[in-house]
Amino acid sequence: MTTGIDTVHVALGTRSYDVRIGRGLLARAGAEIAPLLARRRVAVLTDETVAGLHLDALQDGLGDVEMTALALPAGEATKGWEQFSRAVDWLLAEKVERRDIVVALGGGVIGDLGGFAAAVLRRGVRFVQIPTSLLAQVDSSVGGKTGINSTHGKNLIGAFHQPALVLADIDILGTLPARDFLSGYGEVVKYGLLGDAAFFDWLEENGPALAAGDPVARQYAVRRSIEMKARIVERDETEQGDRALLNLGHTFCHALEKATGYSDRLLHGEGVAIGCVLAFELSQRLGLCSQEAPSRVRAHLKAMGMKVDLADIPGDLPGADALIALMGQDKKVVDGKLRFILARGIGDAFVSGDVPGDAVRAVLDEALRARL
Ligand code: GLY
Repeated sequence: MTTGIDTVHVALGTRSYDVRIGRGLLARAGAEIAPLLARRRVAVLTDETVAGLHLDALQDGLGDVEMTALALPAGEATKGWEQFSRAVDWLLAEKVERRDIVVALGGGVIGDLGGFAAAVLRRGVRFVQIPTSLLAQVDSSVGGKTGINSTHGKNLIGAFHQPALVLADIDILGTLPARDFLSGYGEVVKYGLLGDAAFFDWLEENGPALAAGDPVARQYAVRRSIEMKARIVERDETEQGDRALLNLGHTFCHALEKATGYSDRLLHGEGVAIGCVLAFELSQRLGLCSQEAPSRVRAHLKAMGMKVDLADIPGDLPGADALIALMGQDKKVVDGKLRFILARGIGDAFVSGDVPGDAVRAVLDEALRARL
């Protein structure tokens, strides 16, 4: 373990790129990005909150690379056609050319929208992700999923467009509100649960230090998460199979997010954490894993002060059948059958397209009863 800068290479042939992870990367953004530049100029898409916190530092870090920037409103509502077309029109007005670089400086919303803008601008320009949330650092900035939301659901409009470089600056995480940090931690835990039991052991031991701000622990957790994502994306870039493992907990999560109106009642990573517990409970009900596995997942999340149960979501929730219906518009539906990521144990997840509806209903019924 080191506080130097780590590099995870994502090997995808002509679409390969490096993810750089470490402290002080914003301050050396010019040196990091320079090898990609055809001319010394970048266009930055960001949001108003992130701009207030980090845009000056990025400008300084870019040195003599000229920077132009557009700050969109912060929040999930930005991730729709209106702000997307505003961003694309701005990039055209700024005369961003085919060989130029677009920089997405922000969390998942800006990364997804900015990446999609880069994917369609002049039929595709390269872009650099500078993720500013833990969730974006360990998940959405890597792997090339870009897009915006539709009235029909989240992320239903988009493209696979790999970044040319990702700069995950660990120091940036220090500006996150505790709830946002812990929400991103839900995605970190997911990696241990889906494919690396030793990483989950490490998180049980080091999670509290990581949450308290230990930069060495933070860097290791971000690096390990990105390594795992990179290896999965290399095997299955466009989610024909194995990439769906990254959706552990997400089928439950998306139903809960819809039921709570994508509001402050439940942040995405909080839904992933609860979804992981439910996925392990479903696996246990199906006889795939021992009772100890879901108990251990729940105990770790609780120890971290995270949401664990449906009872931790404030306000009303619909019944089990309504929640199952909300899973129906999810992209993980294939030929009308619900796909779940199940587990044989911690670190041993697999994709199943054949889950009995009764078992899903029973898990949700039990979880909802515990709210009463
Ligand atoms: N966030 C899941 C994936 O990138 O496939």
